[in-house]
Amino acid sequence: MGRMSILPILIHPDPRLKKVAKAVPDLSDDLRVLAGNMLETMYDAPGIGLAAPQIGLLKRLIVLDCIKEEGASPRPIAMFNPEIIAASDDENTYEEGCLSIPEQYADVTRPAEVSVRWIDVDGNEQNQDFDGLWATCVQHEIDHLNGKLFIDYLKPLKRQMITRKMVKLKRERAR
Ligand code: NI
Repeated sequence: MGRMSILPILIHPDPRLKKVAKAVPDLSDDLRVLAGNMLETMYDAPGIGLAAPQIGLLKRLIVLDCIKEEGASPRPIAMFNPEIIAASDDENTYEEGCLSIPEQYADVTRPAEVSVRWIDVDGNEQNQDFDGLWATCVQHEIDHLNGKLFIDYLKPLKRQMITRKMVKLKRERAR
């Protein structure tokens, strides 16, 4: 594998963030490098999750690491074609943010526990239950693969307010 690179992250609103990503048919070295670069980009941001559409690639690939404790070992996970196969009735509310919607945060309620199936970087099928922040994060990232953002859970007025701020931010950055 070559040197890691930091990839530019798309900022909302962008049509690519609203599209449904396509399944990854076969794992290749290119896709493994991509997953590594996405993890590097996520850690650099810094963030706890990143989905391929956020870097403009409509592929069903997400990366995450929700270990936040100071000094704790990182736990990077790359998931190809992740699927939520079960979700708890119990719900959890977290204040969510998104690397594509910088510095905007809002409470989102989601199932507290989910069972996820995915293909790992070695091409093996994995199946694991997630709770706490991991459960929220994996659902948020899988939403990205379906063109859905956390602000889509908010009331229209709040969503429009955040979108206007992002339009302004993009205009300022483009100058
Ligand atoms: Ni996000």
